[in-house]
Amino acid sequence: MGDSDDDEPQLSAHTLAALQEFYTSTGPDATPADKFAVGAVGENWNMSQFWYDDETATRLAEEVIHEAGDGGRIACVSAPSVYQKLKQGALEGSDHVSVVVLEFDRRFATYGDDFVFYDYNEPLALPAALRGSFDVVLADPPYLAHECLAKVAQTVKFLSKGKVLLCTGAIMEDDARDLLGLKMCDFLPKHNKNLANEFRCFANYTSHLLSG
Ligand SMILES: C[S@@+](CC[C@H](N)C(=O)[O-])C[C@H]1O[C@@H](n2cnc3c(N)ncnc32)[C@H](O)[C@@H]1O
Repeated sequence: MGDSDDDEPQLSAHTLAALQEFYTSTGPDATPADKFAVGAVGENWNMSQFWYDDETATRLAEEVIHEAGDGGRIACVSAPSVYQKLKQGALEGSDHVSVVVLEFDRRFATYGDDFVFYDYNEPLALPAALRGSFDVVLADPPYLAHECLAKVAQTVKFLSKGKVLLCTGAIMEDDARDLLGLKMCDFLPKHNKNLANEFRCFANYTSHLLSG
């Protein structure tokens, strides 16, 4: 092997940009805005990851802050963008609620004690202390299928004190009603990438999202 610069292993511009982004969001100088930026953990489509756009993440975060109330507890089930938006410290009232992110993707373990590993295939394999402890449970299941929503519904019931907000495909309307007593809202959640399926929110309380 020679010792000229030409022999040095080279990183592609794409890899360098990804590394730069990682260090910016996790390094010692990272601000809460960096660490909790939506997209700080990149989408992995193999895990059905489609992040909300900023407006939707903000709207959902404001909704759960309002519904949880001062001192309230919020569970984000397979909905890490809303967790991140709540933790950025930029929304009024966000420092008066506590929030946990239940996720299958262990990259979110970077959020320490706020992270709870969750696999919908084992819907009740959760710490006993979480039972009935959340004022608002927001869930966005990975798949648009009855089997998936039925299992996520078990988790939601386990965690919930009452208020439930579900974001999923419009085609899940009947299941959302039958499994969790949820009603479709007018508000249209949007993602950073356009999805083929129409997405909607469903709630079991009189939500601000009901009227768009
Ligand atoms: C459709 S995305 C919802 C993300 C949401 N739109 C957001 O921006 O936060 C589905 C989520 O389910 C998670 N997921 C994938 N496999 C899962 C599993 N087996 N159990 C629970 N969650 C899973 C993904 O990591 C992803 O966060």
